[in-house]
Amino acid sequence: MTKVRPIHESGFERVEGDFYSTPAWVTECLLSKVTLRGPIWEPCCGDGAIAKVLTAAGHQVVATDLADRGFGGAGVDFFATSQMPEGCRTLVTNPPYGDGGFRGRAGKSAANMLGFTDHAIRLARQAEGQLALLVRFQWIAGRRVASLLTDAKMHSAIVLTRRIRWFDHGGAYKTGQHHHAWIFFDFAAPPIGGPSLVFADGPDGQRHNRAPLDQSVLPLFGRPPTDADD
Ligand SMILES: C[S@@+](CC[C@H](N)C(=O)[O-])C[C@H]1O[C@@H](n2cnc3c(N)ncnc32)[C@H](O)[C@@H]1O
Repeated sequence: MTKVRPIHESGFERVEGDFYSTPAWVTECLLSKVTLRGPIWEPCCGDGAIAKVLTAAGHQVVATDLADRGFGGAGVDFFATSQMPEGCRTLVTNPPYGDGGFRGRAGKSAANMLGFTDHAIRLARQAEGQLALLVRFQWIAGRRVASLLTDAKMHSAIVLTRRIRWFDHGGAYKTGQHHHAWIFFDFAAPPIGGPSLVFADGPDGQRHNRAPLDQSVLPLFGRPPTDADD
């Protein structure tokens, strides 16, 4: 049985391992504002909520996760990877925010997210690729985060003007307190003056309780290399 623990900010239960499925409209907002180059790596794929939307849009997707949630390749610790999986140049995910995660620092979500983002930037920059991370909008205002995003020449922040309703995997959902944004980087694009702020509305009424997309169309390539492979 999945262990859950209370999460103080929103008053609803949070699954151990920071597992939230991202509603399809959130990924569709990203796709409506940027052109992604595939194949794409989803390194924290959960039950494939983002990967399925990317695949349905015609992208090849490599999906991995630390946990086995019945989708993609399980047992791949993102922090232990030293390169993108072979062929991938773009990384897209809704990362674990760290306050229910596997890496042990409960309540340190801002710092955990900083470490995740730093590692993701390194991998995407090394591949001269693209990076899109779904983050809490307020998080990017932190001083250390702002410095990291500025140094990495963030291309744009795609701000969702509607708040996300997170499903609790028991069928219920609740609107969270936070607004979210995709932070987007393109390490192959020519430098621009500074990041742009793009607003994305999403669907009216957030009626995103749609049937799951077919996961059988998702190709799974090899595992990404780790330091142990060197
Ligand atoms: C917020 S959920 C998002 C799931 C999926 N990306 C989505 O948006 O629907 C975060 C996922 O990260 C996974 N995760 C946590 N720590 C990880 C790690 N160190 N490496 C890879 N995946 C990890 C969890 O198992 C969980 O499935």
